[in-house]
Amino acid sequence: MEQKSLHQHCKFEVPEIIFGRGLLQQVGSCARRLGGKKVFLVSDQGLFQAGWVDLAIRSLQDAGMKVVYFDQITSNPKDYEIEAGLREYVAQGSDVIVGLGGGSALDAAKGIAILSANGGQISDYKGNDKIHRPLPPLVLCPTTCGTGSDVSQFAVINDTGEMCKFTIMSRCIAPDISLTDPDTLRTLPDEYIGSTAIDALSHAVEAYFSVASSTLTDVNALQALTLLTKSFIPAVQERHADNLEDLSRASLHAGMAFSNALLGIGHALAHPIGGLYDANHGDVNAVLLPEVLKFDFPVVRQKIAGMVNALGYKLESNEKFAEEMTIETVEKILAAAGVPRGLRNIGVKQEDLSKLAARAMNDVCLLTSPRQTDVDDLLGILKRSY
Ligand SMILES: [Fe+2]
Repeated sequence: MEQKSLHQHCKFEVPEIIFGRGLLQQVGSCARRLGGKKVFLVSDQGLFQAGWVDLAIRSLQDAGMKVVYFDQITSNPKDYEIEAGLREYVAQGSDVIVGLGGGSALDAAKGIAILSANGGQISDYKGNDKIHRPLPPLVLCPTTCGTGSDVSQFAVINDTGEMCKFTIMSRCIAPDISLTDPDTLRTLPDEYIGSTAIDALSHAVEAYFSVASSTLTDVNALQALTLLTKSFIPAVQERHADNLEDLSRASLHAGMAFSNALLGIGHALAHPIGGLYDANHGDVNAVLLPEVLKFDFPVVRQKIAGMVNALGYKLESNEKFAEEMTIETVEKILAAAGVPRGLRNIGVKQEDLSKLAARAMNDVCLLTSPRQTDVDDLLGILKRSY
Protein backbone atom coordinates (compact mmCIF):
# COMPACT_ATOMS: atom_id res chain seq x y z
CA MET A 1 0.00 0.00 0.00
CA GLU A 2 1.41 3.38 -0.95
CA GLN A 3 1.06 6.83 0.53
CA LYS A 4 -0.46 9.50 -1.71
CA SER A 5 2.31 11.54 -3.36
CA LEU A 6 3.92 14.21 -1.21
CA HIS A 7 4.00 17.88 -2.13
CA GLN A 8 7.44 19.02 -3.28
CA HIS A 9 7.13 22.53 -1.91
CA CYS A 10 5.84 23.98 1.34
CA LYS A 11 4.49 27.15 2.86
CA PHE A 12 4.39 28.15 6.49
CA GLU A 13 2.33 31.06 7.63
CA VAL A 14 1.47 32.11 11.17
CA PRO A 15 0.19 35.32 12.76
CA GLU A 16 2.15 37.35 15.29
CA ILE A 17 2.17 35.15 18.39
CA ILE A 18 2.24 36.35 21.99
CA PHE A 19 2.35 33.59 24.62
CA GLY A 20 2.79 33.71 28.38
CA ARG A 21 1.11 33.61 31.75
CA GLY A 22 -0.52 36.87 32.74
CA LEU A 23 -0.39 38.31 29.22
CA LEU A 24 -4.14 38.59 28.64
CA GLN A 25 -3.80 42.05 30.14
CA GLN A 26 -1.92 43.01 26.95
CA VAL A 27 -5.02 42.50 24.79
CA GLY A 28 -5.76 46.25 24.97
CA SER A 29 -2.37 47.29 23.62
CA CYS A 30 -2.63 44.60 20.90
CA ALA A 31 -6.02 45.87 19.68
CA ARG A 32 -4.96 49.52 19.88
CA ARG A 33 -1.82 49.08 17.79
CA LEU A 34 -3.95 47.48 15.06
CA GLY A 35 -5.76 50.79 14.79
CA GLY A 36 -9.02 49.99 16.55
CA LYS A 37 -11.18 52.48 18.45
CA LYS A 38 -14.32 50.43 19.19
CA VAL A 39 -13.71 46.77 19.96
CA PHE A 40 -16.24 44.02 19.29
CA LEU A 41 -15.39 41.43 21.96
CA VAL A 42 -16.73 37.93 21.20
CA SER A 43 -16.65 35.58 24.19
CA ASP A 44 -18.92 33.33 26.25
CA GLN A 45 -20.71 33.24 29.56
CA GLY A 46 -18.33 30.72 31.17
CA LEU A 47 -15.41 33.09 30.66
CA PHE A 48 -17.50 35.98 31.91
CA GLN A 49 -18.25 34.09 35.13
CA ALA A 50 -14.57 33.14 35.53
CA GLY A 51 -13.60 36.83 35.39
CA TRP A 52 -11.57 36.73 32.16
CA VAL A 53 -14.02 38.88 30.20
CA ASP A 54 -13.79 41.62 32.84
CA LEU A 55 -10.00 41.47 32.71
CA ALA A 56 -10.04 41.81 28.92
CA ILE A 57 -12.56 44.67 28.98
CA ARG A 58 -10.46 46.56 31.57
CA SER A 59 -7.35 46.12 29.44
CA LEU A 60 -9.15 47.34 26.31
CA GLN A 61 -10.65 50.34 28.13
CA ASP A 62 -7.31 51.20 29.77
CA ALA A 63 -5.87 51.32 26.24
CA GLY A 64 -8.46 54.00 25.40
CA MET A 65 -10.98 51.92 23.45
CA LYS A 66 -14.71 51.49 23.73
CA VAL A 67 -15.90 47.89 24.04
CA VAL A 68 -19.03 46.12 22.76
CA TYR A 69 -19.42 42.69 24.39
CA PHE A 70 -21.14 39.89 22.43
CA ASP A 71 -21.70 36.43 23.93
CA GLN A 72 -24.58 34.96 21.93
CA ILE A 73 -22.46 32.06 20.69
CA THR A 74 -22.93 28.36 21.46
CA SER A 75 -20.65 25.38 20.86
CA ASN A 76 -20.33 24.40 17.18
CA PRO A 77 -21.10 28.06 16.28
CA LYS A 78 -24.21 28.35 14.15
CA ASP A 79 -24.68 30.33 10.94
CA TYR A 80 -27.49 32.43 12.47
CA GLU A 81 -25.30 33.31 15.48
CA ILE A 82 -22.62 34.66 13.15
CA GLU A 83 -25.22 36.71 11.29
CA ALA A 84 -26.63 38.09 14.58
CA GLY A 85 -23.09 39.01 15.60
CA LEU A 86 -22.58 40.85 12.32
CA ARG A 87 -25.77 42.89 12.82
CA GLU A 88 -24.56 43.93 16.28
CA TYR A 89 -21.05 44.71 14.97
CA VAL A 90 -22.48 46.98 12.27
CA ALA A 91 -25.09 48.60 14.54
CA GLN A 92 -22.43 49.47 17.12
CA GLY A 93 -19.94 50.84 14.58
CA SER A 94 -17.12 48.60 15.79
CA ASP A 95 -13.83 48.56 13.88
CA VAL A 96 -11.72 45.80 15.47
CA ILE A 97 -12.66 42.28 16.63
CA VAL A 98 -11.29 40.40 19.63
CA GLY A 99 -12.21 36.74 20.18
CA LEU A 100 -11.71 35.33 23.68
CA GLY A 101 -12.58 31.70 24.31
CA GLY A 102 -12.50 28.22 22.84
CA GLY A 103 -12.81 27.35 19.18
CA SER A 104 -16.47 28.35 19.04
CA ALA A 105 -15.89 31.96 20.13
CA LEU A 106 -12.79 32.28 17.95
CA ASP A 107 -14.42 30.81 14.83
CA ALA A 108 -17.46 33.03 15.44
CA ALA A 109 -15.18 36.07 15.65
CA LYS A 110 -13.65 35.05 12.30
CA GLY A 111 -17.10 34.55 10.79
CA ILE A 112 -18.25 38.02 11.88
CA ALA A 113 -15.03 39.50 10.48
CA ILE A 114 -15.56 37.73 7.13
CA LEU A 115 -19.14 38.98 6.73
CA SER A 116 -18.33 42.53 7.86
CA ALA A 117 -15.83 42.93 5.01
CA ASN A 118 -17.34 40.69 2.33
CA GLY A 119 -21.12 40.67 2.83
CA GLY A 120 -23.44 37.80 1.94
CA GLN A 121 -24.12 34.77 4.09
CA ILE A 122 -21.47 32.82 5.95
CA SER A 123 -22.16 29.65 3.92
CA ASP A 124 -21.06 31.60 0.79
CA TYR A 125 -17.47 31.18 2.03
CA LYS A 126 -17.55 27.40 2.45
CA GLY A 127 -14.47 25.72 0.98
CA ASN A 128 -11.14 27.07 -0.15
CA ASP A 129 -10.22 30.69 -0.87
CA LYS A 130 -13.61 32.36 -1.35
CA ILE A 131 -12.75 35.52 0.60
CA HIS A 132 -11.59 38.45 -1.49
CA ARG A 133 -11.71 41.54 0.73
CA PRO A 134 -9.38 41.97 3.72
CA LEU A 135 -10.86 41.52 7.17
CA PRO A 136 -10.97 44.11 9.97
CA PRO A 137 -8.16 43.84 12.56
CA LEU A 138 -8.51 40.59 14.48
CA VAL A 139 -6.98 39.49 17.80
CA LEU A 140 -7.73 35.93 18.98
CA CYS A 141 -7.12 34.76 22.54
CA PRO A 142 -7.61 31.00 23.07
CA THR A 143 -8.68 29.86 26.54
CA THR A 144 -8.78 26.09 25.96
CA CYS A 145 -5.97 23.70 25.09
CA GLY A 146 -7.29 22.54 21.77
CA THR A 147 -8.67 24.91 19.21
CA GLY A 148 -5.71 26.16 17.17
CA SER A 149 -8.13 28.63 15.58
CA ASP A 150 -5.99 31.48 16.97
CA VAL A 151 -3.23 30.66 14.49
CA SER A 152 -5.11 28.89 11.72
CA GLN A 153 -6.50 29.80 8.33
CA PHE A 154 -9.69 27.84 9.09
CA ALA A 155 -13.07 28.50 10.60
CA VAL A 156 -15.67 25.78 11.12
CA ILE A 157 -19.31 26.86 11.19
CA ASN A 158 -22.51 24.86 11.57
CA ASP A 159 -24.95 25.17 8.64
CA THR A 160 -28.15 24.71 10.63
CA GLY A 161 -30.29 24.18 7.52
CA GLU A 162 -28.14 21.23 6.42
CA MET A 163 -27.23 20.25 10.04
CA CYS A 164 -23.62 19.90 8.87
CA LYS A 165 -20.47 21.81 9.84
CA PHE A 166 -18.52 23.32 6.99
CA THR A 167 -14.95 24.55 6.80
CA ILE A 168 -13.86 27.96 5.55
CA MET A 169 -10.23 27.92 4.48
CA SER A 170 -8.40 31.12 3.53
CA ARG A 171 -5.14 32.87 4.37
CA CYS A 172 -7.26 35.98 4.99
CA ILE A 173 -8.76 34.58 8.18
CA ALA A 174 -5.58 33.92 10.14
CA PRO A 175 -5.78 36.71 12.75
CA ASP A 176 -3.33 39.60 13.02
CA ILE A 177 -2.37 38.55 16.55
CA SER A 178 -2.69 35.29 18.50
CA LEU A 179 -2.48 36.02 22.24
CA THR A 180 -2.39 33.02 24.60
CA ASP A 181 -2.44 33.40 28.37
CA PRO A 182 -2.11 29.86 29.80
CA ASP A 183 -3.46 31.13 33.15
CA THR A 184 -6.93 30.99 31.60
CA LEU A 185 -6.73 27.16 31.76
CA ARG A 186 -6.86 27.39 35.56
CA THR A 187 -10.60 28.00 35.42
CA LEU A 188 -11.39 25.55 32.59
CA PRO A 189 -13.47 22.60 33.89
CA ASP A 190 -11.71 19.21 33.88
CA GLU A 191 -13.86 17.75 31.11
CA TYR A 192 -12.88 20.61 28.77
CA ILE A 193 -9.19 20.24 29.59
CA GLY A 194 -9.55 16.60 28.50
CA SER A 195 -11.63 17.05 25.37
CA THR A 196 -9.77 20.08 24.03
CA ALA A 197 -6.35 18.48 24.62
CA ILE A 198 -7.57 15.45 22.64
CA ASP A 199 -8.52 17.87 19.84
CA ALA A 200 -4.91 19.17 19.90
CA LEU A 201 -3.64 15.58 19.87
CA SER A 202 -5.77 14.87 16.78
CA HIS A 203 -4.52 18.07 15.12
CA ALA A 204 -0.91 17.03 15.70
CA VAL A 205 -1.38 13.46 14.44
CA GLU A 206 -3.42 14.39 11.36
CA ALA A 207 -1.06 17.26 10.43
CA TYR A 208 1.98 14.98 10.86
CA PHE A 209 0.47 12.33 8.58
CA SER A 210 -0.91 14.88 6.07
CA VAL A 211 0.34 14.77 2.47
CA ALA A 212 0.89 18.54 2.77
CA SER A 213 3.18 18.17 5.79
CA SER A 214 6.73 19.55 5.62
CA THR A 215 9.74 19.77 7.90
CA LEU A 216 8.29 23.07 9.15
CA THR A 217 4.95 21.53 10.12
CA ASP A 218 6.47 18.25 11.36
CA VAL A 219 8.64 19.99 13.96
CA ASN A 220 5.54 21.65 15.39
CA ALA A 221 3.39 18.51 15.25
CA LEU A 222 6.06 16.46 17.02
CA GLN A 223 6.63 19.15 19.66
CA ALA A 224 2.89 19.13 20.37
CA LEU A 225 2.96 15.34 20.76
CA THR A 226 5.95 15.49 23.13
CA LEU A 227 4.31 18.14 25.33
CA LEU A 228 0.98 16.31 25.41
CA THR A 229 2.61 12.98 26.29
CA LYS A 230 4.70 14.54 29.04
CA SER A 231 2.14 16.85 30.63
CA PHE A 232 -1.39 15.72 29.88
CA ILE A 233 -1.83 13.19 32.70
CA PRO A 234 -0.24 15.38 35.44
CA ALA A 235 -2.21 18.35 34.12
CA VAL A 236 -5.57 16.62 34.54
CA GLN A 237 -4.60 14.91 37.82
CA GLU A 238 -2.90 17.82 39.62
CA ARG A 239 -3.70 20.89 37.48
CA HIS A 240 -0.20 22.24 38.12
CA ALA A 241 0.38 25.55 36.31
CA ASP A 242 3.51 24.26 34.50
CA ASN A 243 1.65 21.27 33.08
CA LEU A 244 -1.32 23.40 32.05
CA GLU A 245 1.08 25.78 30.31
CA ASP A 246 2.53 22.80 28.42
CA LEU A 247 -0.98 21.94 27.19
CA SER A 248 -1.49 25.51 25.99
CA ARG A 249 1.83 25.35 24.22
CA ALA A 250 0.96 21.97 22.69
CA SER A 251 -2.26 23.43 21.32
CA LEU A 252 -0.31 26.32 19.78
CA HIS A 253 2.25 24.00 18.14
CA ALA A 254 -0.48 21.68 16.87
CA GLY A 255 -2.35 24.72 15.52
CA MET A 256 0.70 25.96 13.60
CA ALA A 257 1.16 22.44 12.20
CA PHE A 258 -2.40 21.89 11.01
CA SER A 259 -2.95 25.41 9.72
CA ASN A 260 -0.18 24.74 7.21
CA ALA A 261 -0.29 20.96 6.69
CA LEU A 262 -4.09 20.74 7.00
CA LEU A 263 -5.77 17.69 8.50
CA GLY A 264 -7.14 14.29 7.51
CA ILE A 265 -9.82 11.67 7.92
CA GLY A 266 -10.44 12.26 11.63
CA HIS A 267 -11.58 15.85 11.12
CA ALA A 268 -13.33 15.05 7.82
CA LEU A 269 -15.54 12.66 9.84
CA ALA A 270 -15.74 14.85 12.97
CA HIS A 271 -17.30 17.79 11.13
CA PRO A 272 -20.48 16.06 9.88
CA ILE A 273 -20.89 14.31 13.25
CA GLY A 274 -20.54 17.61 15.14
CA GLY A 275 -23.01 19.28 12.79
CA LEU A 276 -25.69 16.57 12.92
CA TYR A 277 -25.68 16.00 16.69
CA ASP A 278 -24.16 19.26 18.02
CA ALA A 279 -21.60 16.97 19.68
CA ASN A 280 -18.49 18.20 21.53
CA HIS A 281 -15.69 18.39 18.93
CA GLY A 282 -12.97 16.99 21.20
CA ASP A 283 -15.17 14.07 22.27
CA VAL A 284 -15.85 13.18 18.61
CA ASN A 285 -12.12 13.26 17.83
CA ALA A 286 -11.40 11.11 20.88
CA VAL A 287 -13.82 8.45 19.72
CA LEU A 288 -12.41 8.38 16.18
CA LEU A 289 -8.66 8.76 16.79
CA PRO A 290 -7.65 5.11 17.46
CA GLU A 291 -9.37 3.79 14.31
CA VAL A 292 -8.08 6.71 12.21
CA LEU A 293 -4.53 5.91 13.35
CA LYS A 294 -4.93 2.21 12.50
CA PHE A 295 -6.33 3.10 9.08
CA ASP A 296 -3.43 5.45 8.31
CA PHE A 297 -0.59 3.29 9.70
CA PRO A 298 0.01 1.21 6.52
CA VAL A 299 0.83 4.34 4.46
CA VAL A 300 2.84 6.38 7.01
CA ARG A 301 5.53 3.84 7.89
CA GLN A 302 8.37 6.21 7.01
CA LYS A 303 7.06 8.73 9.57
CA ILE A 304 5.92 6.55 12.42
CA ALA A 305 9.39 6.16 13.95
CA GLY A 306 9.64 9.93 14.42
CA MET A 307 6.27 9.93 16.07
CA VAL A 308 7.16 7.18 18.53
CA ASN A 309 10.28 9.13 19.43
CA ALA A 310 8.17 12.20 20.20
CA LEU A 311 5.94 10.05 22.39
CA GLY A 312 8.96 9.21 24.55
CA TYR A 313 10.08 5.81 23.21
CA LYS A 314 13.48 4.91 21.83
CA LEU A 315 13.66 4.85 18.05
CA GLU A 316 12.84 1.34 16.89
CA SER A 317 12.98 -0.15 13.43
CA ASN A 318 10.22 -2.60 14.30
CA GLU A 319 7.11 -1.13 12.71
CA LYS A 320 4.78 -3.30 14.71
CA PHE A 321 6.32 -2.03 17.94
CA ALA A 322 5.98 1.60 16.80
CA GLU A 323 2.30 1.14 15.95
CA GLU A 324 1.56 -0.67 19.21
CA MET A 325 3.30 2.00 21.31
CA THR A 326 1.47 4.78 19.51
CA ILE A 327 -1.92 3.18 20.16
CA GLU A 328 -0.96 2.38 23.76
CA THR A 329 0.06 6.00 24.42
CA VAL A 330 -3.08 7.39 22.82
CA GLU A 331 -5.26 4.95 24.80
CA LYS A 332 -3.57 6.02 28.07
CA ILE A 333 -4.25 9.69 27.28
CA LEU A 334 -7.86 8.96 26.30
CA ALA A 335 -8.41 7.03 29.55
CA ALA A 336 -6.97 9.89 31.64
CA ALA A 337 -9.05 12.45 29.72
CA GLY A 338 -12.28 10.80 30.83
CA VAL A 339 -13.76 11.31 27.36
CA PRO A 340 -16.61 9.11 26.07
CA ARG A 341 -15.70 6.00 24.09
CA GLY A 342 -17.74 4.80 21.14
CA LEU A 343 -19.85 6.86 18.76
CA ARG A 344 -22.98 5.36 20.34
CA ASN A 345 -22.05 7.10 23.60
CA ILE A 346 -22.01 10.58 22.06
CA GLY A 347 -25.48 10.24 20.56
CA VAL A 348 -24.63 8.98 17.06
CA LYS A 349 -27.39 6.81 15.59
CA GLN A 350 -26.35 3.68 13.74
CA GLU A 351 -28.79 4.40 10.90
CA ASP A 352 -26.96 7.70 10.22
CA LEU A 353 -23.51 6.18 9.62
CA SER A 354 -23.85 5.96 5.81
CA LYS A 355 -25.04 9.58 5.62
CA LEU A 356 -22.11 10.72 7.79
CA ALA A 357 -19.59 8.85 5.62
CA ALA A 358 -21.08 10.41 2.46
CA ARG A 359 -20.90 13.91 3.97
CA ALA A 360 -17.29 13.39 5.07
CA MET A 361 -16.35 12.66 1.44
CA ASN A 362 -17.10 16.36 0.72
CA ASP A 363 -15.06 17.77 3.61
CA VAL A 364 -11.89 19.67 2.64
CA CYS A 365 -9.89 17.82 5.33
CA LEU A 366 -10.07 14.67 3.22
CA LEU A 367 -7.88 16.31 0.54
CA THR A 368 -4.74 15.89 2.66
CA SER A 369 -5.45 12.41 4.01
CA PRO A 370 -2.32 10.28 3.53
CA ARG A 371 -4.36 7.33 2.29
CA GLN A 372 -6.66 7.20 -0.70
CA THR A 373 -10.10 6.92 0.80
CA ASP A 374 -13.56 6.05 -0.49
CA VAL A 375 -16.92 6.17 1.19
CA ASP A 376 -16.71 2.49 2.19
CA ASP A 377 -13.42 3.13 3.99
CA LEU A 378 -15.02 5.96 5.94
CA LEU A 379 -18.07 3.85 6.76
CA GLY A 380 -15.74 1.10 8.01
CA ILE A 381 -13.98 3.55 10.38
CA LEU A 382 -17.35 4.76 11.69
CA LYS A 383 -18.57 1.19 12.26
CA ARG A 384 -15.37 0.19 14.04
CA SER A 385 -15.63 3.35 16.19
CA TYR A 386 -19.27 2.75 17.07
FE1 LIG B 1 -10.15 20.13 15.77
